[in-house]
Amino acid sequence: MKTLFSGVQPSGIPTIGNYIGAYKQFVEMQEEYDSYFCIVDQHAITVPQDRLKLRDNTKKLAAIYLASGLDPEKITLFIQSEVAAHAKAAWMMQCVGYIGELERMTQYKDKARKQNQRDGISVGLLTYPSLMAADILIYSADVVPVGEDQGQHLELTRDLAERFNSKYNDILTVPEVKHPEVGGRIMSLNDPTKKMSKSDDNQKGFISLLDDPKAAAKKIRSAVTDSGSEIKYDKEEKPGVSNLLTIYSSLTSKSIKDLEKEYEGSNYGTFKSDLGEVVEQFLTEFQDKVNHYLESGELDDILDEGAMKASRKADKMVEKMERAMGLGRKRR
Ligand code: TYM
Repeated sequence: MKTLFSGVQPSGIPTIGNYIGAYKQFVEMQEEYDSYFCIVDQHAITVPQDRLKLRDNTKKLAAIYLASGLDPEKITLFIQSEVAAHAKAAWMMQCVGYIGELERMTQYKDKARKQNQRDGISVGLLTYPSLMAADILIYSADVVPVGEDQGQHLELTRDLAERFNSKYNDILTVPEVKHPEVGGRIMSLNDPTKKMSKSDDNQKGFISLLDDPKAAAKKIRSAVTDSGSEIKYDKEEKPGVSNLLTIYSSLTSKSIKDLEKEYEGSNYGTFKSDLGEVVEQFLTEFQDKVNHYLESGELDDILDEGAMKASRKADKMVEKMERAMGLGRKRR
């Protein structure tokens, strides 16, 4: 069976963009792969976090993974900082990567620009992709399902794996990236030229998976649409409507083509009001499941078990990597 790895940061509550771009794919793929899903809390601290909020979000994120439909009997769910192999391998990958290639990462440039206006830029923000590469490579992942914004980090992961293999020993699997067919990049509701992000300062731009369902429907009704009145998918001319069609299609079983037909001759108001209802119902059901997991004692057991299983696999690869790089000693 091939191996799958993916991660989500607990830097806030995930948005419906995260759900569509990541969780939905995870659920569709879980049967086919030996799947490892990680709550990447070490990535979250590359920018300042409130420690109590971070811990709270970490637990909520575990419940959100499961509420999306992942079966804890089939997959391994764990917290990054509870598996020491990640930090060990990240250091090795930092020594394989070059500063220049890290400085070229667009996410680094964006976040560094924002961070610079507040605090200093942490070293971790720059070396973040080395940690991400480590996450993936220590499980010998064959495939990594992610939204489109992570494409560049995955390219770098592949480059680092190939460099390690040719410099040291050919032991790392070069992973394939997998983006969803629809919804790889859900855009902000109030600025459809910008990615929807859980760390957006403007609350109207995103819908968090734990937003009040009625308030979320309202955000959809007040989402920015384009000039004209036709409900048609056209990313260039109608980015707002196209984004809403993508969300609609992803949360129902209707294709974008079918939705265009259904709303032919209709207006933006009706379309947004219907999508608002879809989102409201989706969130209500989703949050019931999240609350079930948060209130049950099983979450801690699942995470304990997950950390143990993940460590068993990752420790073996870390040992091989250390040997390949000449770390440690040969016993007599
Ligand atoms: P993060 O936490 O920002 O996002 C988690 C997942 O959600 C996807 N995503 C989106 N998809 C569609 N539309 C959007 N607007 C949108 N915003 C986010 C992301 O592409 C991602 O799949 N660096 C990663 C976390 C990570 C990771 C890893 C992922 C750390 N190590 C190893 C895969 C493998 C991140 O910050 O994702």
